[in-house]
Amino acid sequence: MCSFLLCPKASSSTIIMLLLLLLFFIIPRHHHHLHVMSTPAIVPKHDNVTDRSSLLVFKSKISLDPHGVVFATWNDTLPFCRWQGVVCGGRRHPERVVSLLLTSRDLVGTIPPHLANLTFLRSIDLSSNNFHGPIPQELSRLSRLQYLDLSNNSLNGIIPSELGHCLGLHMINVSFNKIGGYIPSEFGSLPSLYSLDLKNNSITGQIPASLANASFLNYLSVTCNQLSGGIPPSLGELSALKVLGLSFNNLEGSIPYSLWNLSSLESLGFGMNQLHGSLPRDLGQALPHLTHLYAYYANLHGTIPISLSNASQLSMILLSNNNLNGRIPPNLGRLRHLRQLVLGDNQLEAREPIDWSFLTSLRNCTILEMLLMHQNNIGGLLPNSIANISSTLQMLSMGDNSIEGSIPPEIGNLVNLTEFIIHNNSLSGHIPASIGLLENLHLVDFTFNNFSGEIPSTVGNLSLLNEIYLDFNSFSGSIPASLGNCKSLEYLDFDQNKLTGIIPKQLFSISILSKGLSIAENQLTGMIPPEIENLINIEEIWLSGNKLSGKIPNSLGKCQVLEVLSLDRKFFEGSIPTSLSTLRGLQQVDLSQNNFSGKILTFLGDFPFLHYLNLSFNNFEGEVPRKGVFENKSEISVLGNDNLCGGDPVLHLPICAFSGPKKKHKSQKLAVIISVFSGFLGLFLLFLFVAYRRWICQRSRRRPIKNCTIKEQHISISYAELVKATNRFSEET
Ligand SMILES: *[C@@H]1O[C@H](CO)[C@@H](O)[C@H](O)[C@H]1NC(C)=O
Ligand SMILES: *[C@@H]1O[C@H](CO)[C@@H](O)[C@H](O)[C@H]1NC(C)=O
Ligand SMILES: *[C@@H]1O[C@H](CO)[C@@H](O)[C@H](O)[C@H]1NC(C)=O
Ligand SMILES: *[C@@H]1O[C@H](CO)[C@@H](O)[C@H](O)[C@H]1NC(C)=O
Ligand SMILES: *[C@@H]1O[C@H](CO)[C@@H](O)[C@H](O)[C@H]1NC(C)=O
Ligand SMILES: *[C@@H]1O[C@H](CO)[C@@H](O)[C@H](O)[C@H]1NC(C)=O
Ligand SMILES: *[C@@H]1O[C@H](CO)[C@@H](O)[C@H](O)[C@H]1NC(C)=O
Ligand SMILES: *[C@@H]1O[C@H](CO)[C@@H](O)[C@H](O)[C@H]1NC(C)=O
Ligand SMILES: *[C@@H]1O[C@H](CO)[C@@H](O)[C@H](O)[C@H]1NC(C)=O
Ligand SMILES: *[C@@H]1O[C@H](CO)[C@@H](O)[C@H](O)[C@H]1NC(C)=O
Ligand SMILES: *[C@@H]1O[C@H](CO)[C@@H](O)[C@H](O)[C@H]1NC(C)=O
Ligand SMILES: *[C@@H]1O[C@H](CO)[C@@H](O)[C@H](O)[C@H]1NC(C)=O
Repeated sequence: MCSFLLCPKASSSTIIMLLLLLLFFIIPRHHHHLHVMSTPAIVPKHDNVTDRSSLLVFKSKISLDPHGVVFATWNDTLPFCRWQGVVCGGRRHPERVVSLLLTSRDLVGTIPPHLANLTFLRSIDLSSNNFHGPIPQELSRLSRLQYLDLSNNSLNGIIPSELGHCLGLHMINVSFNKIGGYIPSEFGSLPSLYSLDLKNNSITGQIPASLANASFLNYLSVTCNQLSGGIPPSLGELSALKVLGLSFNNLEGSIPYSLWNLSSLESLGFGMNQLHGSLPRDLGQALPHLTHLYAYYANLHGTIPISLSNASQLSMILLSNNNLNGRIPPNLGRLRHLRQLVLGDNQLEAREPIDWSFLTSLRNCTILEMLLMHQNNIGGLLPNSIANISSTLQMLSMGDNSIEGSIPPEIGNLVNLTEFIIHNNSLSGHIPASIGLLENLHLVDFTFNNFSGEIPSTVGNLSLLNEIYLDFNSFSGSIPASLGNCKSLEYLDFDQNKLTGIIPKQLFSISILSKGLSIAENQLTGMIPPEIENLINIEEIWLSGNKLSGKIPNSLGKCQVLEVLSLDRKFFEGSIPTSLSTLRGLQQVDLSQNNFSGKILTFLGDFPFLHYLNLSFNNFEGEVPRKGVFENKSEISVLGNDNLCGGDPVLHLPICAFSGPKKKHKSQKLAVIISVFSGFLGLFLLFLFVAYRRWICQRSRRRPIKNCTIKEQHISISYAELVKATNRFSEET
């Protein structure tokens, strides 16, 4: 394959050797191609003894070898050619090391430059270990090297540009390390380079245009780095390219039109950069072999080309978070291999039934797993054919559109569905009882629609259900007691409906209900069942705005990680049980507008995280404590409790005295009126704040993000989805 000029050492002909030695003395040494040729002259004495000692240096740099691969077997009882991971061979030099293959052995250590003395090495595979430190630039002396896989370690430093001198290199994989620096432009002159995988590092700088000269390149991935600048149009010349991964960088500018010339492409990813552009109308014809299209967050405008379905092997179409408009192509059903269709967060439209024909056609995609079309301008009636999508479907997300109509009873066909997200639409009607057939459901999110009727008791069949959000609808009837069978339930949100009846005590048998129970703003009656003590891991309880009555059960004190307790408005009575003093994690407590009485318990002032305490409009009496939350007037409200006194002066409460009933002067009355008014204003603002915060938190809770920060929320939602959708950015086809 190689001409002798490229691989001088492949030939042992003494005549050539002599010729080379001659050249070495004649030709100036700074010419790099010839410099490579000259290496045998610089380090002349490499033999099987050097190989052995080099391997021993390699061994000495390994600090941990949990499986004893190197430590236990690399010793004198066996010749080094039989050490694990060491392969010798070669026609004329059967005793020289040609491969060092130590993948996935959990080795910890550094790579010594001495490896470069194994001059017959063709393959190095140290992937999936824990090597750290730099890649020695001396490796560039390995002129026979074809295969270099150092991926999935903790290597840092830079990619030595000298590797561009190993003209026989077919494959370089340094993905999943901590490598910085630039992509060596010298790689463009590697005539046999077939695969260059640099993904998931910290590489900066630009993509060298010269890579276009590596015309054998089949696989090029720089996904997940910090590359900047534009995509070199010259990449369009890499006509053998099957995989091009550019996603998750800081690339900018427009998507060069030449990329659509790469007719062999199977996987193309350029999402998550600062690029812009549009998809060509003939995309499906131009890239007929395409299986993966990762083009999220790419500022794409224009429409989804109808020709997409000509790329009949397409399996992943990820076009979310762009500015795509127009209709969803009605012929996507031709894509028999389609698994994921991710179109969320665009301006795609549907109004008339014909605009929905894509859904009917998707029925032919018999392995479809994911259909995400949330946050678009999709309206009109939800066709019944939604239930005719392949039963392989796992994620269905159509939230934040303006879809009307109802969920057909046949929805029970989608037995593999795990996430069913249709929040913020105009859907109405009943939830069909057949929802109980969707036994794989983890997440049900029907928030902000116009659903009515009873919540079907069949939801109790959903034994894998983690979270159910039915808030902001018009559900009536009672809360199904069968929910007690949902043994995986962590959050239940039925806020803002018209639910009546009592809170079924079965709800409290779900002892893992750990995130929250939210049934506020309904018409629930009765008392809080003492079984609430079973919810020992619950973080939030929202019961306000119902017609509940009775006392706070003592047992609430067992809900030790409670952060939010919202019981405001109406009907509760009695005093705050002292057992609550154990709930030191409480952050928000709202007991306003009830008939609570008795003293305000001073322990509330000791709760370190409490930052909102509303006790207003009750019959609390006695002295207001001064510590903790009581110190900050914006965090508490004690308005409308006529018999309170003391506390921080800013509360304008009368001084505590034991001298019987208070007599109010006129001026005092005026002061009270003013302070009540300003108090109301403050309360109103506080209410808005709490409601907003809660809304934000609830929305974010639906996705696995820990931080409730408003700024990052938007991006992380989709980011998490993407990570899931792209199977952690693997671009293999
Ligand atoms: C090294 O090579 C020499 C001949 O070149 C041979 O005699 C010797 O056995 C080899 N040693 C090993 C360990 O292979
Ligand atoms: C040397 O390696 C062999 C296996 O190759 C092993 O059986 C033997 O125990 C090792 N000897 C020492 C002293 O570690
Ligand atoms: C092997 O390589 C190292 C560093 O590349 C060098 O310092 C050393 O002299 C070499 N050893 C032999 C025996 O050639
Ligand atoms: C990296 O290696 C670890 C084991 O060391 C393995 O669990 C993981 O799957 C590997 N990652 C990749 C991307 O191959
Ligand atoms: C590079 O290595 C990573 C991790 O070991 C692996 O997942 C990936 O498939 C490799 N790339 C190529 C092109 O083989
Ligand atoms: C690389 O992948 C690992 C997980 O495999 C991830 O934790 C890390 O953040 C990634 N690095 C970069 C630079 O994206
Ligand atoms: C490719 O190589 C030729 C010479 O071999 C050079 O003139 C050209 O500039 C290179 N192309 C790029 C894009 O670097
Ligand atoms: C695509 O390739 C053709 C010929 O193969 C060439 O004529 C055309 O200029 C290329 N287009 C772009 C945008 O590079
Ligand atoms: C693309 O698909 C359309 C049907 O949607 C078909 O008429 C056309 O011939 C196809 N073109 C190619 C190049 O396959
Ligand atoms: C779906 O498949 C049926 C029968 O296999 C076929 O008649 C129909 O045209 C297909 N629809 C699409 C959009 O491919
Ligand atoms: C769903 O598919 C069945 C046949 O598989 C068909 O009879 C029915 O009409 C379809 N329903 C809709 C709404 O397309
Ligand atoms: C559900 O998904 C699993 C794999 O995730 C698959 O084996 C099974 O066939 C699917 N069931 C249906 C009815 O599609």
